[in-house]
Amino acid sequence: MSSITLIGTGNMARAIGTLAVAGGNTVEVMGRDQSKAADLAKALGGGATTGKWGAVPAGDIVITALLADGVVPVVTEYGDALAGKVIVDISNPFNATFDGLAHSEETSIAQEVAKVAPAGASVVKGFNTIFRNVLEKGRPSVFIAGDNAQAKTDVAAFIESLGLRPLDAGGLKMAHWLEGMGLVTVSLANNGVGHWDFALGVDEFTG
Ligand SMILES: NC(=O)c1ccc[n+]([C@@H]2O[C@H](COP(=O)([O-])OP(=O)(O)OC[C@H]3O[C@@H](n4cnc5c(N)ncnc54)[C@H](OP(=O)(O)O)[C@@H]3O)[C@@H](O)[C@H]2O)c1
Repeated sequence: MSSITLIGTGNMARAIGTLAVAGGNTVEVMGRDQSKAADLAKALGGGATTGKWGAVPAGDIVITALLADGVVPVVTEYGDALAGKVIVDISNPFNATFDGLAHSEETSIAQEVAKVAPAGASVVKGFNTIFRNVLEKGRPSVFIAGDNAQAKTDVAAFIESLGLRPLDAGGLKMAHWLEGMGLVTVSLANNGVGHWDFALGVDEFTG
């Protein structure tokens, strides 16, 4: 089992935290609003605790469940408190019209996080292609990307503990394209699929 810290107290923190507790993981919650963090930890149950904003997280895996434009500033603010941690960026930096990413160049929030993360920290992109409501249903694929093989192994084990299917999409540069997948998923919901109760996955035709 894994020890995780959720930085953020919103919808995704609640959804991932709920599955994490059910999967027997140790969960800590941190929020810039301490009372929201305490409320979420209490709601999650399972011995979930609250950490002080900016302090060294108790979890080995730190999930930044924050709006996209808050992720790099918050990782910068935490600074050395994140040394040695596996930082999981779940964000979708969509533009205002949901037909492109907020950054124009070929980067991603995860790659920008890696630039400001302290020594020994590893960054993994993941969960951004899964709608919150789908996390509670079935066994959707959770695409991950990162440059550190051990960090991806650790995050994959955590994802397995949630009852979800981890799928390694490659190095951290692929985080840009996972953000694009997030965009495609939203566009499919708004167009061809017509609802939000689905997830992108992989069909294998090996036989
Ligand atoms: N919802 C989904 O279905 C879904 C699916 C895949 C990926 N995502 C991604 O997951 C992330 C979280 O989404 P969500 O649905 O959980 O959003 P949410 O419910 O709005 O929660 C956002 C959280 O981020 C915190 N926050 C925002 N800006 C911050 C900043 N500058 N500094 C510190 N804290 C900040 C908020 O704190 P306060 O409460 O104090 O404002 C809140 O705890 C987003 O990046 C989103 O793109 C969401």
